[in-house]
Amino acid sequence: MTLDEIIALDKKYYMNTFGDRLPVCFVKGQGMKLWDTEGKVYTDFIAGIAVSALGHSHPALVNAIVEQAQKFIHCSNYYYVESQAKLAQLIVENSCADKVFFANSGAEANEGAIKLARLYFRKKGQPEKFEIITLEKSFHGRTLATLAATGQEKHQKNYSPLTPKFISVPINDIEALDQAINDNTCAVMLEPIQGESGVNPTKVDYIRQVRELCNKRNILLIFDEVQCGLGRTGKLFGYEHYGVEPDIFTLAKALGGGFPIGALCAKEPYASTFEPGDHGSTFGGNPLACNTAYAVLSAIINDKLCENSAAMGQYLMEKLNGLKEKYPFIVEVRGKGLMVGMEFSIPKANDIKKQCLKAGYLVGAVGDNIIRMLPPLIVSKEDIDGLVNAYDQIFSRLQ
Ligand SMILES: Cc1ncc(COP(=O)(O)O)c(C=O)c1O
Repeated sequence: MTLDEIIALDKKYYMNTFGDRLPVCFVKGQGMKLWDTEGKVYTDFIAGIAVSALGHSHPALVNAIVEQAQKFIHCSNYYYVESQAKLAQLIVENSCADKVFFANSGAEANEGAIKLARLYFRKKGQPEKFEIITLEKSFHGRTLATLAATGQEKHQKNYSPLTPKFISVPINDIEALDQAINDNTCAVMLEPIQGESGVNPTKVDYIRQVRELCNKRNILLIFDEVQCGLGRTGKLFGYEHYGVEPDIFTLAKALGGGFPIGALCAKEPYASTFEPGDHGSTFGGNPLACNTAYAVLSAIINDKLCENSAAMGQYLMEKLNGLKEKYPFIVEVRGKGLMVGMEFSIPKANDIKKQCLKAGYLVGAVGDNIIRMLPPLIVSKEDIDGLVNAYDQIFSRLQ
């Protein structure tokens, strides 16, 4: 099909939740590169929004899918699943969690985390502890409960009444959090580095104080690592930057390298809260998803992609800060590892994103003044130099 035919078909039959998409349809990917229907090649600095951690068509990921698909794809959770048990073991042995449950997406993993926190206190005889405190500008998903957890009115406003008993407080404000905690609070849920609102890192001191506060007030600390987990920030998990451990954390996005899977990970005694019948999923933890995610996580660990993420992230930030010296409309470059945001004083982010596309680079725009970069963890200095040169040319035309 031609690009025009694909666009016409989409406009007629697909629900319009994404507005006017960029007029591109990819037909092939390899490593950092994607090819479109017209044969044009792009360097991918968004990775399907932090998903394609190994880049495109990584042989380990492709082999894991093919190998499992040739054996069998699905069998239900009535039976034991080898790759499910092995993937859970791999996550536990490399994290602070004691047990894992697999879902199909980030929102679903977060739903599981919310249920687990509430159920933990209910089973302890404290059913009044059900309230969850989240942060303003957070993003936790688009299901009804995770929407309520998301501290952004624009996502919530059309879906009232929202699932009750979620409140959000400003980021990095320990006083506000302290005051919001009450006898009904069961958990604080936050992203160590907020992604969807434009790469906003929490401060180390703040997170340490949050941990202490949760211990003191007997409430659970949940980290949503759906976007910042799995090497994205230069460490396998975002919490490693803070010297604290959450009681519960969630993963998705990069876990399957593009194959849908989410994970709810918890320490004991919280992990043992779920008993038969308390939670479940038809597709969650299926052999195909787990075999694929096992290959992806193994590659992230064995190929030292966290180290590459840290080194390349630093290189990218240095280069972008170089551009900041030259172009005063860049007000801030921020992030950790390969989760990087560049904020402008001018409302040109969408324009810049489109010009990057024209120059063969895929980046994301948040609102009208932030560009977000989340490249595959395999990105090289040459890829970064290419993007920075493209920015330089685009920015020089903006002045
Ligand atoms: C931090 C965070 N949590 C949850 C989600 C929701 O994940 P999903 O779209 O897989 O449901 C996202 C998606 O962007 C996210 O960034």
